[in-house]
Amino acid sequence: MMRGASALGLGDITTETPVSWVGKASYWSPTHVVPSAWHEHAPFAFWLVDALRPSTFVELGSHNGFSYFAVCEAVQRLGLDTSCSAIDSWEGDEHAGFYGDDVYRSVTEINEASYSGFSRLIRSYFSDAVDQFEDGSIELLHIDGRHRYEDAVEDFETYRPKLAATAVVIFHDTFEFERGFGVHRLWAELCERYPDSTFQFEHGHGLGVLGLGDLPQPLVDFFAAGRADPDAVRADYARLGAVVTARAGLMQERSDALAAVERQEAELGAVRLHATQLEIELQRARDRFTEVTDSTVWRATSPLRRLVDRARRR
Ligand SMILES: C[S@@+](CC[C@H](N)C(=O)[O-])C[C@H]1O[C@@H](n2cnc3c(N)ncnc32)[C@H](O)[C@@H]1O
Repeated sequence: MMRGASALGLGDITTETPVSWVGKASYWSPTHVVPSAWHEHAPFAFWLVDALRPSTFVELGSHNGFSYFAVCEAVQRLGLDTSCSAIDSWEGDEHAGFYGDDVYRSVTEINEASYSGFSRLIRSYFSDAVDQFEDGSIELLHIDGRHRYEDAVEDFETYRPKLAATAVVIFHDTFEFERGFGVHRLWAELCERYPDSTFQFEHGHGLGVLGLGDLPQPLVDFFAAGRADPDAVRADYARLGAVVTARAGLMQERSDALAAVERQEAELGAVRLHATQLEIELQRARDRFTEVTDSTVWRATSPLRRLVDRARRR
């Protein structure tokens, strides 16, 4: 992985000795690389699932499913007994853009093929789905719905009673300050309230990590490292994230190139078919010509044609 990062010109991970905030899972490559602004956070998501080992994961806002399937993949690879739920209207919003039913269909396809044993998709508005969860049951919550301040506060407050006494909440887009994004305001309030158990990654539009309750040791160490040397923690995950993004870019280029080859092959096939049809028509025309010139009538009228030719030449 470190060699891979260098080969892509992205530099090595800063830490030469093992550090508490990077583990084996941080180096995994996500399997389901669907379009998303979340690619760069997959390494941390893998690490977090390993560190927290939650019994229940809920995501508010899944769109194409990238962040959700990153968590599902970690659950599966680690052999955890985690129940996962993705909640989304799957109609889009003003920031993500509005989209068609094909998105929900493709997310369903991946879910059914890979994770249906422990994962369910809930097509609903967040506030309508909240009663499907027991109070105090969610150990990992990802909030990535609409991104205005009021929306983020509403989503957090609506699901707060559902959080277990020990839980982690991750917020996407905490480092976005334009286009009306206001998650950073909620994030600033949470940092003030929980100074010892909040940490923010600034790459990939920002990912805020909030720990609540009596956290497992890897998370206690993570927040301690985040307080002691935030730049080192950020730099490592920014580099790991950049590798995922670069890989996603290469995969996209590869699939675009493959699509171009298939398009050209289809066009060439159509041209070849047309050429074959033209050859058949040409052969038919030749056959007809031979048929006419070989015919008895043609031969019998030959003297007459010669007379006409001679008369024309005079
Ligand atoms: C930024 S996208 C999620 C991105 C996703 N986490 C990823 O990995 O790329 C936000 C999603 O939240 C959904 N959404 C926004 N507000 C919602 C609400 N109140 N109820 C249900 N879905 C909502 C939208 O349909 C959209 O698909």
